Amino acid sequence: MKERIVLAYSGGLDTSVAIGWIADATGAEVIACAVDVGQGGEDLEVIRKRALDCGAVEAYVADARDEFASEYCMPALKANALYMDAYPVVSAISRPVITKHLVTAAKKFGASTVAHGCTGKGNDQVRFEVSITSLAPELKCIAPVRDLALTRDRAIEYAEAKNLPIATTKHNPFSIDQNVWGRAIETGFLEDIWNEPTKDVYSYTDDPAFPPVADEVVISFKEGVPVAIDGEAVTPLQAIQIMNRRAGAQGIGRIDIVEDRLVGIKSREVYEAPGAMALIAAHQELERVTLEREQGRFKRQVQDRWTELVYDGQWFSPLKKSLDAFIDHTQAYVNGDIRMTLHGGRATVTGRRSDSGLYDFNLATYDEGDTFDQSQARGFIEIYGLAAKQAAARDVAFGNGEDFTLPEDRTRGGAA
Ligand code: ARG
Repeated sequence: MKERIVLAYSGGLDTSVAIGWIADATGAEVIACAVDVGQGGEDLEVIRKRALDCGAVEAYVADARDEFASEYCMPALKANALYMDAYPVVSAISRPVITKHLVTAAKKFGASTVAHGCTGKGNDQVRFEVSITSLAPELKCIAPVRDLALTRDRAIEYAEAKNLPIATTKHNPFSIDQNVWGRAIETGFLEDIWNEPTKDVYSYTDDPAFPPVADEVVISFKEGVPVAIDGEAVTPLQAIQIMNRRAGAQGIGRIDIVEDRLVGIKSREVYEAPGAMALIAAHQELERVTLEREQGRFKRQVQDRWTELVYDGQWFSPLKKSLDAFIDHTQAYVNGDIRMTLHGGRATVTGRRSDSGLYDFNLATYDEGDTFDQSQARGFIEIYGLAAKQAAARDVAFGNGEDFTLPEDRTRGGAA
């Protein structure tokens, strides 16, 4: 029996050519695997047919939109995942769900190897291959662009020579990766990091400089996950889609950063993630109301580490899973409503309410009904500041105390 290779298939030029290219180079049978993570574009059945027309022996297609939203985007939301405080890990969370389907297809069709179309310079090759071997250690990985010298020009030549049913003409100036959580745009003139992104870079967001009238939204959460928008029940996928539309119309979630790739390169990245950024803003504020202070402080460290692990391709790693358990535990009381105004590129929180929050009006108020005993503050501060006070006294005793001379009273250095 011939060896079989499962290829991560997008339906585009490069992976369409890769089907025959891999078969020619290895003698194996190629099985195309296409996964819908909300990237839009062509119908899965159109993609399936093209894969077969390009020489795949089997085509596996999966609508993974709900799975991606519930099992990948929601954990990212609970973690308020923003790599380098900015990037909502859009591509980083899609690679593991695609991998799950690649491995499922490999098992179903008896394949020994999985192939993907990534180059050798990015994070995605790492995410695919580390995820593949974390799920199925027996599988091998190949990357035709990186390992079998499949360049763009050769792909065009090959598609034309073999008369493949795929357009070879329109060449996008950018490298784009998109899904329901957001959109990543790189390369082309963006590689000069002084160049401002042009309007054609964006598609999930409208220009925030010319917004429509302000849009008020109430998002209801249960255990850290959005369950209703303006009182209407929603699935995680619907919550993201609705917020993509409403926040996108206001130009919310445009991000332009230089980011540290795992492979050591700094790269210019433009993202748009209107739904993700609006949901994270709401979720973060609800956590401020509901998390106990120390739990919240520690969670911020944990979620930053979680985000780095996910960015670095460690979705299926033991540490990432352990941190998931911690993060899930923190979400037990993250219930309630956040009201936001979406306008001109900003999602501004204007109100919050929670039955499981820790905000106590009577403790906070300066008006009637104050239940906070202010006389206790004095002793608390005395003891709280004691260690620093003793250290300051020692500095004074050793002649290392602070200098309180006013600038005008200081004698100038050198001969006066
Ligand atoms: N730099 C981002 C990341 O590593 C986006 C990658 C987008 N991928 C792509 N093939 N264009 O997650």
